Amino acid sequence: MTDTQISPVSAAWPRLERTAPSDQRSFRDALGRYPTGVVLVSAMTDDGPVGMAVNSFTSVSLDPPLVSFCPMLTSTTWAKIRPVGGFAISTLRDCHTDVSRLFSRRDVDRFGIGEWRLSPAGHPVIADALGWIDATVEWMTDAGDHELVVARATAWSESGDGDPLVFYRGGYHRLAVEGGPDAPLP
Ligand SMILES: Cc1cc2nc3c(=O)[nH]c(=O)nc-3n(C[C@H](O)[C@H](O)[C@H](O)COP(=O)(O)O)c2cc1C
Repeated sequence: MTDTQISPVSAAWPRLERTAPSDQRSFRDALGRYPTGVVLVSAMTDDGPVGMAVNSFTSVSLDPPLVSFCPMLTSTTWAKIRPVGGFAISTLRDCHTDVSRLFSRRDVDRFGIGEWRLSPAGHPVIADALGWIDATVEWMTDAGDHELVVARATAWSESGDGDPLVFYRGGYHRLAVEGGPDAPLP
């Protein structure tokens, strides 16, 4: 038996205190320490374009190309996109703070600002997006007070200049570039 197995160094590591799991505010604060980008999830419906600001978007798989996001069960926007069976993702740039705000408000004309394009599948994409993806829904499942939606990317932009809009601790931020993943370790 090696020394490592007899007295692992981790035995001396202090244990962290836990917050009461029922405290939803503190859970939201904990999650807020994880920075994300912001995208618009949008679709063309029979009644016109609909869309919402989303920060739960993430990549899932390269082969096949899958993405996901989590709409609230109560989202009236998602209720309109769901029957379409697909949507476009517009990745917002750091100049899109107002767009993100507008696309999270109710009873406003969300498409009233910005220039718009149609994706290959016919969904609205903001013209100066950092990137866009067309996706068709593969499967959905209820996940607590949200749905988990996994969708297959069918078309996407391959390049985009500029910096992303960053959402962190409930506010909008800009990216500060420190170096790539291959930068030397300290
Ligand atoms: C930065 C940001 C991120 C958001 N992320 C999500 C999300 O991941 N899922 C979601 O359902 N709503 C999210 N929202 C809220 C929606 O944008 C919006 O408030 C909601 O769609 C409004 O309700 P409605 O769908 O009934 O119009 C986010 C809002 C903001 C500002």
